[in-house]
Amino acid sequence: MRLILLGPPGAGKGTQAKKLVADFRIPHISTGDMLRQAAREGTELGKKAKVLIDAGSLVPDDMVIGLIAERLSRPDAAAGFILDGFPRTVRQAETLEPLLGKLGRTLDKVLSLELDEGAVVERISGRRSCPKDGSVYHVVANPPRRPGYCDACGAGLIQRDDDHPEKVKERNRQYWAKTAPLIDFYARRGLLAPINGAGTAEGVYRDIRRALEGPRGGRKG
Ligand code: AP5
Repeated sequence: MRLILLGPPGAGKGTQAKKLVADFRIPHISTGDMLRQAAREGTELGKKAKVLIDAGSLVPDDMVIGLIAERLSRPDAAAGFILDGFPRTVRQAETLEPLLGKLGRTLDKVLSLELDEGAVVERISGRRSCPKDGSVYHVVANPPRRPGYCDACGAGLIQRDDDHPEKVKERNRQYWAKTAPLIDFYARRGLLAPINGAGTAEGVYRDIRRALEGPRGGRKG
């Protein structure tokens, strides 16, 4: 199964990706996670990316294309993958096609999570993330057992620097200007599955599974 998860910031891409990983046992490839990891490690790329991420801007296409090209060529991505946060511009999407072609692969489905701006702000303002293992919580919808601490590893939870309201506004603006054109891009290729992202995480996942059982989406691996 080779999937793309598309959707505005906070639409639930990471949350749904984890459910897909548990069911299909394929890697979750999140450019946001990769860039934050590079920033934590203090690499040159990570330092450059952090400034842009914290401002709510996108990082340059070439920076993420390089990361994705390397990641997709690893053996664990041969059986399938879930791309979360990539592609994010038409140029990234146009580059992905020959990249996959060289590896002899095609996409099965592009799941487009739809959520209005009010819900986006509510979800992002309540999000708490584990800086150690990447677990994601929500203070109301998905609280940790012990408030403020990760269930899985016990680390103190943080609010992402780009999750503050004025940054969220800019991220949303970037989404509608640069990423939303991909909805049309993939609809024209017959790959788009629009998913209502407004229900519970379980309800949204049920809709995703239904979409994957439709044409071109039913096979594993
Ligand atoms: P990235 O990390 O990709 O951020 P994003 O797309 O803004 O998405 P988020 O991680 O904020 O949200 P999500 O949709 O995964 O939602 P989640 O499941 O956590 O990118 C960050 C930055 O990196 C970008 O701004 C850019 O600078 C850079 N970048 C990354 N990729 C790039 C690229 N390709 N090109 C250029 N730049 C790039 O859910 C959110 C909250 O809601 C959580 O608290 C969760 O628990 C809760 N929740 C989830 N689902 C539900 C539900 N159904 N009901 C109630 N609560 C829910």
